[in-house]
Amino acid sequence: MKNEKIIAPSILNADFANLSQQIRLVELGGADWIHCDIMDGKFVPNLTFGPVVVQAVKRTTKLPIDVHLMIENPDSLIENFIESGANRVTVHQEEVIHLNRTLTRIRELGAKAGVAINPSTPTSTLREIIEITDLILVMSVNPGFGAQKFIPGSIRKISELNEMREKFSADFLIEVDGGVGTGNIKQLSDAGCNAFVIGSSIFSKDNMTAATVELKNIIS
Ligand code: DX5
Ligand code: ZN
Repeated sequence: MKNEKIIAPSILNADFANLSQQIRLVELGGADWIHCDIMDGKFVPNLTFGPVVVQAVKRTTKLPIDVHLMIENPDSLIENFIESGANRVTVHQEEVIHLNRTLTRIRELGAKAGVAINPSTPTSTLREIIEITDLILVMSVNPGFGAQKFIPGSIRKISELNEMREKFSADFLIEVDGGVGTGNIKQLSDAGCNAFVIGSSIFSKDNMTAATVELKNIIS
């Protein structure tokens, strides 16, 4: 579990006119999960897609679908996303009042539960849920858009979570999302990160398969 190394391409930056073909290309490169960034234009200043696109991704790939809910009131849509094919559902700590209940419900509905924290949210806010979450996602950019600059302090937060995981013998995966590429993925992996959400460092490249292979090789 804690030694797993996972490449999770985010389709946020993919060409939606050729989505199944682009998913095939990253699969060929050894992608482990497909990351779906769900945005409602309220929790973050951007609007992306909903369950219908997750259903389309489900028809396209056998890879686990990693749904990241950057939306207000995520409890209202969790069941819909899981029925649409989400294998993992991550909600934002900043947006959920009863986080213990929400994470428990995601698991009861048959998916892996995750909680994300924005760059300004300390890891210490997660102490009471580390035993009931399957994943903690560190946002290394301010959520809402791809191709942003990596926030360096995110590496320290990954290390803090790794120490917390060791200290309390927890077994959640640590994931990072935003501005990840060949220049920082090794450092993130060495700090204890397991899953790497990558958008523009894969989908903006001419050869998406080769870009995926390169990133996978660095962390393997
Ligand atoms: C931000 C999004 C992006 C995306 C990754 O809300 O979550 O971080 O997944 O985009 P890149 O890899 O281009 O930063
Ligand atoms: Zn994301």
